[in-house]
Amino acid sequence: MATTQIDIREATPADLGALRRMLRAAYEVGLKGYYAPQTLARVIPTVAEGNLRLIASGRFHVATSDGRIVGCGGWSDGPPTPVGGGLEMGRLAHLRQFATCPDVAGQGVGTALFRRCRDQAAAIGMEHFECQSTLMAEGFYARLGFRHVDFIWTPIRGAAFALVVMRRPLFTEADRHRRAAI
Ligand SMILES: CC(C)(COP(=O)(O)OP(=O)(O)OC[C@H]1O[C@@H](n2cnc3c(N)ncnc32)[C@H](O)[C@@H]1OP(=O)(O)O)[C@@H](O)C(=O)NCCC(=O)NCCS
Repeated sequence: MATTQIDIREATPADLGALRRMLRAAYEVGLKGYYAPQTLARVIPTVAEGNLRLIASGRFHVATSDGRIVGCGGWSDGPPTPVGGGLEMGRLAHLRQFATCPDVAGQGVGTALFRRCRDQAAAIGMEHFECQSTLMAEGFYARLGFRHVDFIWTPIRGAAFALVVMRRPLFTEADRHRRAAI
């Protein structure tokens, strides 16, 4: 498969329009078959809307190829819906809104965005990541070393959206041994 030159930069509010188009494409193509069509019809307009506060936070990043936004993802302090226990919330960072344009899926865009988030979160002392993964993305996060913690239903516009709660330390044993980039 041909690989694409990807650059990662901080998102800005000016990216909102392009982000919305990319998010809609990523969710429509990626989530098909994982959720009922009537669930997606309710959920996608909301999740593809983008979150201006998050986008402007300095912790949300876009991947670009020849200037075109082909992926996004970021993190925030703590999860929107706290799940489980045993971790100090101040050290638990929550991954947010990871998506890759379908035409460059599987080429490392999501991984590059994850690494940027990890390095940024590590720089201010975060120790663990949590995500609320779509059913589709569970394999992606598992590949990055996340472990299943819980399964939740999030209400969105009258639909129950099934999500998998997953966690990993910012740096895993494998990172320490291999000094690998993940
Ligand atoms: C999940 C998503 C962000 C992955 O982005 P991506 O750029 O394709 O991911 P990468 O290319 O970095 O993949 C990294 C590894 O995970 C694997 N992987 C990616 N998506 C996967 C999936 N859905 N299931 C299993 N493995 C997956 C890749 O094959 C790759 O493995 P490798 O290291 O052995 O080559 C993208 O598929 C997407 O946008 N999905 C729809 C939106 C969504 O559900 N987002 C998650 C919100 S919580």
